[in-house]
Amino acid sequence: MGQESSKVVDDSIEPQTLEKRNLNSVAKLIKSGKAKRIVLMVGAGISTSAGIPDFRSPETGLYANLARLNLEQPEDVFNISFFRENPLPFYTLAQELYPGKYRPTITHSFLRMLSDKGLLMKLFTQNIDCLEREAGVPGEKIVEAHGSFARHSCIDCRKAYPEDKMKAAIDKKEVPHCLDKACDGLVKPEIVFFGEQLPQDFFLNRELPSVADLCIVMGTSLSVQPFASLPAFCGEGVPRLLINLERVGGLGSRSDDVLLLEDCDKGIRKLATALGWLDELEALWEETNPNKGKAEEQGPPKDKNEKLEDEIEKLTGEVDQSLKIADEHGVRVRDQIGVKKEIAPSEAKTEEEASKLHYASDNKETVHKATAGNEAGDKKNGQEDSQDLKHVFPHLKL
Ligand code: OAD
Ligand code: ZN
Repeated sequence: MGQESSKVVDDSIEPQTLEKRNLNSVAKLIKSGKAKRIVLMVGAGISTSAGIPDFRSPETGLYANLARLNLEQPEDVFNISFFRENPLPFYTLAQELYPGKYRPTITHSFLRMLSDKGLLMKLFTQNIDCLEREAGVPGEKIVEAHGSFARHSCIDCRKAYPEDKMKAAIDKKEVPHCLDKACDGLVKPEIVFFGEQLPQDFFLNRELPSVADLCIVMGTSLSVQPFASLPAFCGEGVPRLLINLERVGGLGSRSDDVLLLEDCDKGIRKLATALGWLDELEALWEETNPNKGKAEEQGPPKDKNEKLEDEIEKLTGEVDQSLKIADEHGVRVRDQIGVKKEIAPSEAKTEEEASKLHYASDNKETVHKATAGNEAGDKKNGQEDSQDLKHVFPHLKL
């Protein structure tokens, strides 16, 4: 069972709600009917086994790989100021990341299963791959905190841009412009870029975790605010299960935190086994198999690392190409955005600024106070900024 590999930080703290700080006790809580409002917080790590790279893994993450290219700060691809000057690198990535190419993972199917069983209160996702929807989680249960490819609009006048035209533009790697010829602004999918405001839906639901009776965090480094502050909204004594390759966001510090530091598909299978749901889960996942009912493919299937390596090679190669095309912009753009880089919490003077996408300057639980404009927190976080950016961009000299 999962317990052997689940590393609970500080076993000496007695749990308030769970029998023990382990996976079996979390499963027991669910089976007993005491966890009926489960809140999920997820990120790119739940989609890596589908073949989509995450952002910050040192070898296979998108940013480490983009850093090898002529793009000093890989996050620039998702920076609104950079996009205004040079939208091509984003559109190059968008062609690869556009929904429809990837199969949901068994972890996504588990989310669907929780929803089917009436146990899912809300799923907060930072992912733009739409795999939660493809696995069958109903739209009203999902908060796409960093937006999605579901809608597109002009970045100047906000006029909507139709899906079919966007699909055609992305297929041809063309950058679409506003349908209003007088405006002619750049169009982009409504994915939240650094420096942009999160969707209303995020703020409307942000405090929902405070009424949850179980929280599960998976596949996220919790290094981007304001999303990173969500687990802190859970009440004391509410169990919080982290299934992730590494410990993040201070999880493990509370009495009912349980850490399962491993691959999330493996962790989810363990949880499903403890719940007695594994067969049902495997069957549900099989429904998402595009080859279901067909004869097995010839030859050995690629393992997930090979799939990821192929994908990352393709992505970086293509972005490299687009950067070469637009190389003359490079230096000028970086100079321009250097001064108005993402708003760090220390600079965020208003609620509105603080609610824009920015790097977490502190993964500890006090962060949401700082992002809401807390003076003392601001100062403290300001001092820590450069240190934390080193963690985000280990390859850069900051
Ligand atoms: P990150 O790449 O920052 O973090 C992914 C986390 O998942 C890391 O802690 C990995 O160790 C872990 N991980 C990777 N593969 C895993 C696996 N198979 N099983 C378990 N854990 C795994 O991705 P996010 O936290 O989602 O924003 O990043 C947050 C935001 O930063 C993104 O939404 C994106 C990015 O800049 C935008 O682009 C707007
Ligand atoms: Zn416009």
